[in-house]
Amino acid sequence: MRCPPPTLAEDAHTGLDDFLPCMLNFAVYHFFRGIRLMRRKFIAGNWKTNLTRDESVALASGLAEKVGSASSVDVAVCPPSVYLDCVAAAVSGSAVALGAQNVYHAGNGAYTGELSTCMLKDVGCDFVILGHSERRHILGESNRDVNLKVLAVIEAGLVPILCVGETLEEREAGKTRDIVAEQYIGSLAGLSAEQAAGVVVAYEPVWAIGTGKVASPEQAEEVHADLRSLIESRYNAEVASKVRIQYGGSVKPDNAAELLSQPNIDGALVGGASLKVEHFMGIIDAA
Ligand code: 13P
Repeated sequence: MRCPPPTLAEDAHTGLDDFLPCMLNFAVYHFFRGIRLMRRKFIAGNWKTNLTRDESVALASGLAEKVGSASSVDVAVCPPSVYLDCVAAAVSGSAVALGAQNVYHAGNGAYTGELSTCMLKDVGCDFVILGHSERRHILGESNRDVNLKVLAVIEAGLVPILCVGETLEEREAGKTRDIVAEQYIGSLAGLSAEQAAGVVVAYEPVWAIGTGKVASPEQAEEVHADLRSLIESRYNAEVASKVRIQYGGSVKPDNAAELLSQPNIDGALVGGASLKVEHFMGIIDAA
């Protein structure tokens, strides 16, 4: 039985059998509306190929101390894989979670030089960044490659942070929406609605990464809102209201608050400014 939230006039005419499903729908409607309003902000640091072991531990320990054991926003750091283990120890007991920057889609086996999802879980990862533009553009990863990784990561019980974003050339050619849609759809092929709801998406315009050129809050919000509509049309309104969409590209303490106040920007994926405790904390505090 399909039933909109009851109005007072309708209530007067409904019997109990009709009334209960209506009330249930009403509660479900408000429950999901509440989730939409309560999307927790998520600030993640992508350390890329930076820092030594000692610097990684010092940064992680400094963040763990400042963030403490509870935080009103979700926080994660994604160090180079060789430092995952020592960073895991440094953030242990704090509200700072651990993420990897990549993974191979197959399980343990003969894949020289790669890492499996089991290994990432074993060292304490919760998140895995996938499809970052540096991997798409420098290392030649396709949507199909990213899709295999997304499926493996979900299967392992880890959360993908799926990166999408256009180059400057694509933006200037008016292709931003198409590129972002193609990357999102291609990377999430074969996912159920429930699985898609758990994927964190990071919109990272390539022209804003490491360039100091940040997308304006309006430019970022436009793409985030488009993405949310795409998610709604591909899955449903409930999924669209649950998915957290981070912005990434030259996020700094002084531009974070304005970006993060946009209705469809649910956090940030931070590169350069995640390498110093004060800078990263400035972004967390702005969320
Ligand atoms: P920057 O913050 O250095 O521009 O990097 C963004 C990024 O690529 C995060 O994944």
